[in-house]
Amino acid sequence: MRRPIIAGNWKMHKTIPEAERLVAELKTLVPPGGPAEVVLCPPFTALAAVAGALKGTGWGVGAQDMFWEEKGAFTGEISPGMLRDAGCTHVIIGHSERRQYFGETDGTVHRKVRAALGAGLVPIVCVGETLAQREAGETEALVVSQVEAALEGLTAADLERLVVAYEPVWAIGTGRNATPGDANAVAALIRRTVGKQWGAEAAARLRIQYGGSVKPENVEELMREPEIDGALVGGASLEAPAFARIIAGAAPER
Ligand code: PGA
Repeated sequence: MRRPIIAGNWKMHKTIPEAERLVAELKTLVPPGGPAEVVLCPPFTALAAVAGALKGTGWGVGAQDMFWEEKGAFTGEISPGMLRDAGCTHVIIGHSERRQYFGETDGTVHRKVRAALGAGLVPIVCVGETLAQREAGETEALVVSQVEAALEGLTAADLERLVVAYEPVWAIGTGRNATPGDANAVAALIRRTVGKQWGAEAAARLRIQYGGSVKPENVEELMREPEIDGALVGGASLEAPAFARIIAGAAPER
């Protein structure tokens, strides 16, 4: 059984005091020991404070990006070891906003995934098509190529530790989510792609999240899909009541 994983991507939101308030409120709303693994991904500046506030909860803390080198003259960058030092357990890699605005490519995603695994961080690897690519019928080819590039050269043991997030770009922050059936079909494709290279067992163990306008109102129907093992949540993770309801909806009867 794959354990569902719900991650909140706070993007460029929340000062340290705001982050601490959100964590405190979430802790009162989410009963401990639920079926889902919970990960909070605040901005870099709030990582250590959030990690401190989450001690003893079993929840994970994720960064939203990192560099692949461990140290050196790379002004403005943050290394995998620095993330560990700040208390991180996870790191989002290849988010579409990084690909769109900050020059992230399949090649840099691949280097970051390897570096994260090497440092003992769980990479949450984001893939997904733009609206133009979907309308041109390119979704399948694009997602397969992103997955193959990101995971190239990894071992089956590596795959067990990482998470893939399927996030159609047109569904991010738009209020327009993929239908559960469509999201499930792409998740199934990702699993088949992994199965071809690493075998059925590794594919069956891989956790695949859906992301893009996940809300309390649609989380259950998405999570009921057999190939979807959790959610990467942006906007709805910024308010404790909404995110707590999403966590509660992570493991509906299927
Ligand atoms: P959204 O963002 O939930 O606000 O659509 C998801 C994401 O970008 O990870």
